[in-house]
Amino acid sequence: MRWWRWAGAGLGLAFLLAGIVVWSRVGVTVAAPADVQTGRQLYGTHCATCHGDSGKGDGPSAAAFATKAFDLTDGRVMNTLPDDFLVDIVRDGGPAHGLAPTMPPFNRTLSEIQIRQVVAYVRTLAQPPFEPGQAPPLVRPVGAPRQPIYFNHVIHAGSFKIDCQYCHADARRSEYAGLPSVERCMGCHKIIGAQDNPEIRKIHDYAGRGEAIPWVRVFKVPEFTYFSHKAHVRVAVACQTCHGPIERMPVVGAQTGPRLVNDLLHAAGLRPGAPPLSMGWCIDCHREQNATRGTRAPLDCIACHH
Ligand code: HEC
Ligand code: HEC
Ligand code: HEC
Ligand code: HEC
Ligand code: HEC
Ligand code: HEC
Repeated sequence: MRWWRWAGAGLGLAFLLAGIVVWSRVGVTVAAPADVQTGRQLYGTHCATCHGDSGKGDGPSAAAFATKAFDLTDGRVMNTLPDDFLVDIVRDGGPAHGLAPTMPPFNRTLSEIQIRQVVAYVRTLAQPPFEPGQAPPLVRPVGAPRQPIYFNHVIHAGSFKIDCQYCHADARRSEYAGLPSVERCMGCHKIIGAQDNPEIRKIHDYAGRGEAIPWVRVFKVPEFTYFSHKAHVRVAVACQTCHGPIERMPVVGAQTGPRLVNDLLHAAGLRPGAPPLSMGWCIDCHREQNATRGTRAPLDCIACHH
């Protein structure tokens, strides 16, 4: 074997090991009772003043806030939020994640371990009760651009379960999925967060000026390629099959352009799947779907390049 094959194999192995490390770190963990107990005390000292003794968001210090301190007992909203999402908010405070500044940061008051303990306690407040494994960890894709407004799919699509097609309403009837208009945002945010959340203030400013929000495009195929959402949505290919678990992404990103990791794995003799949005990816899926579901997904050049 030539030296570069060995080098390639070594790199492949390194990626594999890195993968295993990442995988084992995201495994479901169940908090120890001692941690929950400590978390309960920390909660009483640092959180109850706003979120209330029982967690219902009715603490005295938050009585005058325009945005209520979050009701941490509402399992329907809380239970799909990943642990790392809750930890991020408690550590960094509201504004770092698009929420109101009345939720303070605790990075100076509490250690990382204490923050995890308090989150473990918060988990026990939910009704219906939280089941471990119900909220898989956040996905933080590379290549996420900075958007004009901190819009969070974890809150909208994950926690509040707003249907993807409520906002991306063109997906079932046109080539494009489309992005929601300012009016669509205002439908809810005329009231929600309007008084004390600066990110939501920005929506009002765009609406007031009659301007569209200049969202930065993430997923894109080159101009010479034809892609249509309609055809795919009609045969019930889930959005996530192509875009990943968007409802777990605090910011949306995708890797487009050359893919060094994929090329290196190929060089190492491994055959990873074709990377998303590449031609190989489209064709692999078309072949697979035609074979397993009897669909008529095209394989001829002209269907995608005309
Ligand atoms: C000074 C009042 C205040 C204190 C103290 C406070 N919070 Fe908050 N918290 C808020 C407010 C207000 C919000 C709602 C922000 C929003 O929705 O924009 C919030 C939101 C949250 C959220 C976000 C929930 C979601 O789904 O968006 C979590 C989690 C949270 N708080 C946990 C805690 C914990 C744990 C502590 C104690 C370590 C704590 N908070 C202390 C006021 C407070
Ligand atoms: C169907 C109702 C609904 C629609 C439509 C909606 N939101 Fe929200 N949004 C919510 C709710 C509920 C929250 C959570 C409020 C809280 O916890 O403070 C929220 C929170 C937010 C926040 C603060 C937390 C975060 O995500 O960072 C921002 C910013 C926001 N929305 C922006 C938008 C934008 C921009 C649009 C339009 C593209 C939009 N929203 C459309 C219901 C909606
Ligand atoms: C409340 C409205 C709302 C809901 C619900 C919503 N989205 Fe979005 N989506 C947006 C906004 C606004 C953007 C642009 C900002 C961004 O990229 O985060 C966006 C961006 C995206 C993008 C990237 C677009 C690009 O530029 O390539 C994808 C893909 C996407 N959403 C898929 C989904 C899926 C899948 C769901 C359901 C699990 C969903 N969205 C639910 C509002 C929404
Ligand atoms: C078969 C794969 C596939 C499926 C399924 C799919 N998308 Fe897409 N999506 C793409 C591709 C490819 C692009 C880039 C299209 C382009 O550049 O013209 C894209 C672009 C987008 C964009 C960017 C703006 C736009 O209108 O093109 C949004 C938003 C989006 N998709 C949301 C969704 C939602 C929501 C669903 C589910 C209802 C969905 N997608 C299902 C592959 C898919
Ligand atoms: C997850 C699987 C999957 C992926 C990925 C996928 N497709 Fe498809 N595609 C399908 C299926 C299934 C059909 C067949 C629909 C039918 O039988 O009506 C289809 C049909 C089509 C059609 C024919 C319908 C029409 O609109 O004319 C085109 C063109 C097409 N796909 C382009 C693409 C392109 C371009 C990409 C990559 C950017 C892509 N597809 C990625 C599953 C996929
Ligand atoms: C199912 C859809 C689909 C089919 C069928 C398809 N392509 Fe493509 N093709 C794409 C997409 C998407 C891209 C852009 C992404 C990329 O470069 O990988 C692309 C890119 C290309 C490129 C540019 C490559 C580059 O490096 O820039 C060429 C040339 C091309 N296709 C030729 C063909 C030929 C010849 C055929 C028939 C044998 C064919 N395609 C069939 C989807 C398709």
